[in-house]
This record gives sequence, C-alpha cells and structure tokens, in this order.
Amino acid sequence: MTPALEAWLRKMPKVELHLHLEGSLEPELMFKLAQKNAIDLPFNNVEQVKQAYQFSQLQDFLDIYYQGANVLVTEQDFFDLTWAYLLQCKAQNVRHVEPFFDPQTHLARGINFATVINGIHAALLQGQQELGISSELIMCFLRHLSEQDAMATLALAEPYLDKIIGVGLDSSEMGHPPEKFSRVFAKARQLGLLTVAHAGEEGPASYIHTCLDDLQVSRVDHGVRASEDPDLMERLITSRMPLTVCPLSNTKLKVFSDMSQHNILQMLEQGVCVTVNSDDPAYFGGYMNENFFALANGLEMTADHAMMLAANAIEACFASGKRKSQLLLGLLKHGAAMP
Ligand code: ADE
Ligand code: ZN
Repeated sequence: MTPALEAWLRKMPKVELHLHLEGSLEPELMFKLAQKNAIDLPFNNVEQVKQAYQFSQLQDFLDIYYQGANVLVTEQDFFDLTWAYLLQCKAQNVRHVEPFFDPQTHLARGINFATVINGIHAALLQGQQELGISSELIMCFLRHLSEQDAMATLALAEPYLDKIIGVGLDSSEMGHPPEKFSRVFAKARQLGLLTVAHAGEEGPASYIHTCLDDLQVSRVDHGVRASEDPDLMERLITSRMPLTVCPLSNTKLKVFSDMSQHNILQMLEQGVCVTVNSDDPAYFGGYMNENFFALANGLEMTADHAMMLAANAIEACFASGKRKSQLLLGLLKHGAAMP
C-alpha cells in the first residue's frame, strides 16, 4: 500500500455494519473493569491477554470472548464499552454504525436486560450528539442456546423496541442452522424489527439460503462461503443482498489461510454487495481502517475498490433515506481526492 492510499483510506468516510460491542472490549478496559467489579481473570496482565488471542477456529475465539464479557456488570460499564468503540470510530472517520450486542451472555450472569440496553443506548445517543456518529442497534441471539431462550430474550426486549432496529443471530454456527430460529425471527418481524444473521462464515452455503428463505434477512453477516454455490451467488447478485464481510476476522479464525486467499474483491467484481467490517476488533487486530489496509496489502485493493465497498455499506445500512444521502455525498466528495 502506498502512503498516499493509506492516508486517503484513513480519511475515507465509513459505515460499519458488523461489529459486536462485546468484541470491542480492549484488554486495558477489561482489566480496569475486572478490578473495579472484583472479577477474576485467568490472565495476569494485558500482554498475557494478547498472547492468548491465537485462534484456529471460531469456537476458540468464542470461548475467550464470552469469558472477557464477564467483566461487564453495571450500566456504566456498558456505557464505557460503547463509548470507547465510538471514540475509535471518530478517530477512523466512521460516520454511521449498526452494532450488535449479545444480551444472553449477560442475562446468564444475572445482569438485567435494562442495565445492558440502557448503558449502550445512552452512549449511542451521546455519540450522535457529540461525535456526529449516527447509529442503529441490533440485538443478537446466541444460536448455541435454545429457541425457547431466544424467545424469552425477545420478550424481555419488547419494552425497548424503540432502542433497537433489528435482531441478529451469532455464536457457534456449525450444528445450529438458521431454521432453529424461524419462529423467533417470525415473531421479531411481527414486532416490526428487521432481521440479519451470521451465515456462511464456517457453516455451509445452504445456511445462507435458509437465512434468506426462512429468516427473511435484510443482510447476511459474513456470507463468504456463498462463493461455493453458483446459484446462491446469482441470487445474491440479482437481489443486491448485502454481505457484511470481516477480512481480519476471517484470517484470524482461519476461514481463509491468509488475506491473499480472501474472496471479497472477487465477489465485489462479480456484483455482490459486499461491505468491509471489523467484527470483534479488540480480538482480531484492528478496527475499520486496519481492515481496509489489510485488503490493500494482501489483495492489492485499489481506491476504486474501496469506494465501491464504502458505497455498498451506505446502500446496505438501515439509516433513513436522508441520512444515506448525506453519507453518500460525503463519500463522493472524498472520492474526488482519490490518489
Ligand atoms: N460473535 C462475535 N463474533 C462472532 C463471529 N465472528 N461469528 C459468530 N459469532 C460471533
Ligand atoms: Zn460477527
């Protein structure tokens, strides 16, 4: 990557559509909260934590990610977590975000739903007012838990529907196909919520078909294994179904052996609405800019590619038409200064 491309990518206005707030918990904040809340961590210092972040598959990461989330206890903790992420967004010219949160991770530890959502929501509101970052919040169900548990979580969310735009599906993909949650997603849609779901990260392309058919998703999170199924590719291309791709996550979790093997630019050139996202930046080595840099270094991504990827995220986001126009105008102005 040339220094000119790097500087231009840093300044490019960006939209992030696949970010787990619990995955933005940096080791420094993890230690601070562990101390404050008297929570035991199996690490002695930040260096040890970073050394433990070596994964050979999704489950290796999830085990450590759920353990890290144990330090989040009070409403202020959830505020601080979200605010720290928004400050990173500000520093990286991310203008609109649609983060995920995993309430079941916290409910299982006796934390109230209100504690979690009120802390996150207050930070998102302040982010809009003080940083100019617009946002929409998405509540994810953990797919390794039961349909009944997800249904009970949706019931808890009902008094807070004004604070979330949709529901998603995350955690261990293999053995937990989307149809396990068909009824939960139908109920969410009845409540007026949009739907998204992780699929085709480790799981087969058939899971992506089921997300479209059964869960009626507006976006597929990851979706990179779609390239194994030509009929599915055709379906994604003709419908402009967005995929929220996470390049650094995919290489850290060995979905691709290294960045030169990643299929995001091939899919972009074939007409798929692919976008760039960071997934769990505190665990995978970087936020939005680092993901774009990794594509420039590993796949020879050009400024034209980057413009298309950023424009796709604006097309795919759940912001109002007015906000989408503002975001697109900002991106087009930036495009005029392309290196
Ligand atoms: N939860 C947090 N990050 C995830 C990922 N990449 N896949 C599935 N569940 C997740
Ligand atoms: Zn994810």
